[in-house]
Amino acid sequence: MIKSTSQIRQEFLNFFHSKGHQIITSSPLILPDDTTLLFTNAGMNQFKDIFLGQKKPKYTRITTAQRCLRVGGKHNDLEKVGYTARHHTFFEMLGNFSFGDYFKQEAISLAWELLTSSKWFGLPKDKLLVTVYADDHDTFKIWEKKIGLPLERIIRIGDNRGSAYASDNFWQMSETGPCGPCSEIFFDHGAHIKGGLPGSTDEGGDRYIEIWNLVFMQFNRKSNGTMIPLPMPAVDTGMGLERITAVLQNVHSNYNIDLFQKLIQSIIQITGTTKIHDKSLHVIADHIRSCAFLIADGVLPSNENRSYVLRRLIRRAVRHGYTLGAQKGFFCKLVSPLIHVMDESAETLKRYQNKVEQVLKTEEEKCDKTLEKGLFLLNQELSKTSDDTLNGETLFRLYDTFGFPIELVEDICRERHISVDKVGFTLAMKEQRQRARNASGFHTNYNNVLYITHKSEFKGYDCLQLNAVISIVIVNEEIVDTIYAGQDGVIILDCTPFYPEGGGQVGDQGTLTAHNHTCFIIKNTKKYAQAIGHIGTLTHGRLSKGDTVLAQVDKENQISIRLNHSATHLLQAALRLILGPKVTQKGSLINAQYLRFDFSYDQPMTQAETREVEAIVNKQIRRNLPIEVHIMELNKAITLGAMALFTEKYDQYVRVLKIDDFSIELCGGTHAQRTGDIGLFHITSESGSASGVRRIEAVTGEEALSKIYHPYDALSDIAQLLRVNHRNLYKKVSSLIDCVQTLEKKTQNLQHQQAIQESLLLRKKAIEIKNIQIVISHVNVSEPKILRILVDNLKHHLGSAIIVLATISNGKVSLVTGVTKDLTHHTTATELLKYLAKQIHGKGGGSQHLAQATGVNIEALPTALTNVKSWISDKIKII
Ligand code: SER
Repeated sequence: MIKSTSQIRQEFLNFFHSKGHQIITSSPLILPDDTTLLFTNAGMNQFKDIFLGQKKPKYTRITTAQRCLRVGGKHNDLEKVGYTARHHTFFEMLGNFSFGDYFKQEAISLAWELLTSSKWFGLPKDKLLVTVYADDHDTFKIWEKKIGLPLERIIRIGDNRGSAYASDNFWQMSETGPCGPCSEIFFDHGAHIKGGLPGSTDEGGDRYIEIWNLVFMQFNRKSNGTMIPLPMPAVDTGMGLERITAVLQNVHSNYNIDLFQKLIQSIIQITGTTKIHDKSLHVIADHIRSCAFLIADGVLPSNENRSYVLRRLIRRAVRHGYTLGAQKGFFCKLVSPLIHVMDESAETLKRYQNKVEQVLKTEEEKCDKTLEKGLFLLNQELSKTSDDTLNGETLFRLYDTFGFPIELVEDICRERHISVDKVGFTLAMKEQRQRARNASGFHTNYNNVLYITHKSEFKGYDCLQLNAVISIVIVNEEIVDTIYAGQDGVIILDCTPFYPEGGGQVGDQGTLTAHNHTCFIIKNTKKYAQAIGHIGTLTHGRLSKGDTVLAQVDKENQISIRLNHSATHLLQAALRLILGPKVTQKGSLINAQYLRFDFSYDQPMTQAETREVEAIVNKQIRRNLPIEVHIMELNKAITLGAMALFTEKYDQYVRVLKIDDFSIELCGGTHAQRTGDIGLFHITSESGSASGVRRIEAVTGEEALSKIYHPYDALSDIAQLLRVNHRNLYKKVSSLIDCVQTLEKKTQNLQHQQAIQESLLLRKKAIEIKNIQIVISHVNVSEPKILRILVDNLKHHLGSAIIVLATISNGKVSLVTGVTKDLTHHTTATELLKYLAKQIHGKGGGSQHLAQATGVNIEALPTALTNVKSWISDKIKII
């Protein structure tokens, strides 16, 4: 019987459990405490500290099915994914671990038993062969003597990767950390498949496939290359679940195992593709696994490190989807089928399904926009060209700048009988790579994550405009030579007056301009390591690396920001005066419109306290104090009492902002010259932002003035509406309230009168069925709530009755049912309501004696009221 992937996973864990191993759940794909790893790439990662002797193990034998990602760092399989039978970005690694318990001999015996015993995986012994580290004679002997493997099926592998310990049979987690010799077990798929023995020149073929790696951890590798023996030898084994499943299910490609086949079927169905043998299906199947689990484990797509890897994976998958003909938004729909196929391993994913789908959906939309822009450019180029071939440079620009897949361009061109210059495309790609390598100030790593080492000089403390030279241009997260009109991008200059987002202050806005109306509109400015990136859109012309531009900060915007920033310092000092020194800054936001200041304080401020703080700040503004900047040693600043954020790391020399005798703080932001520039300070709100943290929002300058006018303007409008002058407003509003209250009372009385009249009539309409009084009626009342009064009234007067009343108001049917206590053994008000509500498409509820519902099907009411009579009659049991 063929076992499913889930069964194989479980059988592995059961086997080791039966051998005294504790089953531990998979760790997330991100190990927050381990900065040496981009992603979890092996089962042993979560036990690193135990291997190193830094943590005591709770169990000495452990087994896991660990989710892993290999798209960066030492183990990176991304380029191979989709094009080989066995490579994945995401995969599950089955493993058993011994911490100072068993070592080589038992590890090998256990592996052999699981693989070959007919009780377990039952693989034919003659299909298995192994490799050992050339110097590891012990392991060689165990395979030869204890297991009885013929010598020709034990292959020694030395340092085949160019330096000491650089070997396929010496495993290390990353550049540093636990490592040791390993022995790999291979499965022979048969002579009909191409490929040589491990260690031979054609080992790259598919005939001999590594299925299990047994690592004997013995050393800790330090960053200088030295190997320090571990406190206790340990075992770490890893078997790719997808590979062993392929072997056990007798299929050659991992993508043909049940798990992937089901997932691929879902992809075919969701994309509606007819290309059912296309490699893109493999890419999507692989990438939905990595993307979904990355998001479930807390990574969100953006342009930095792990988040950037996620973004590229999503884009790659979405592009492949489009080549299959998928509609927009297909990718997030794959989460549900993925959860289904991953079975027990999908627990985390199941928990965060909604979030994962939402993140994928939003990212896919962003990706769509990029593709849309690319399409626009392509159409422009095609309308310009009179050739019957689209040149390689444009092809490359589409690919490079807009992430436009070449197949898509080919499709569009085919419709117009235009061919594409693929050779030119490859050439342009090579040239770009070369340029990237040669360029200074940045490099991209294996994942194309941008590392910018350029340093920009910030001159914004002294000026708001200057001429600068472009150092780097980034479009679509790639470094390019030129940005063209219509493109969004990031431009880095040698020096800049633009303040980059930081210390709570937002990044500056403005323009970069050059000859011929070339204009880059800057929406935000941010730090990229030591560089300052201007983020925006080129509206006219083109800009290239090396061009000189006039960089101009939006002056009005920056001045408003300055006022708010200086006011924030005054606010902090005032708060400490009124509420005491336990007030410390917890966060802030300073933009041109307002300022927000979060601080530690455990109760809401009273109105008097808020007023007092506001008054103190305004007093400092009226004193028109100078705002001075001093650069000094951190220690000196702290001795002078400068406020600092404990969460922040400061350099030895710091920038200190001093407002006379009133405030002294470490600050890198931009500020007014004197407090008088602020003009006016006004607190607009005081609220709680987290436990023990209060938040003040405030405005300054003109904004404060206009906010202060708001209530006066509103009062004027009200006075005008009521046709009185300001002085009489209070009196007028009081008399209006009295008037409304009197009218409400009158209305209530009238409704009551109406109910009494109506109930008199209804009593007369009561019919008798099997000696029980029944009232069924459609009544006209001014408000549905009167129905309840009526039912109560009828119950009171009739003493014993079943009542159904309905009315129509605001296009809806309202129903109230009532059954007196003595009759509930026949039917109840809720049962009656349920019967009726269904017919009028309504919803409601209540008790045994009184229930009410509202429904939308007005037309059904007459029939419902007619039918209910015989329904009640059927319910009445004659005892
Ligand atoms: N750590 C080894 C590997 O990843 C065995 O688990 O191959």
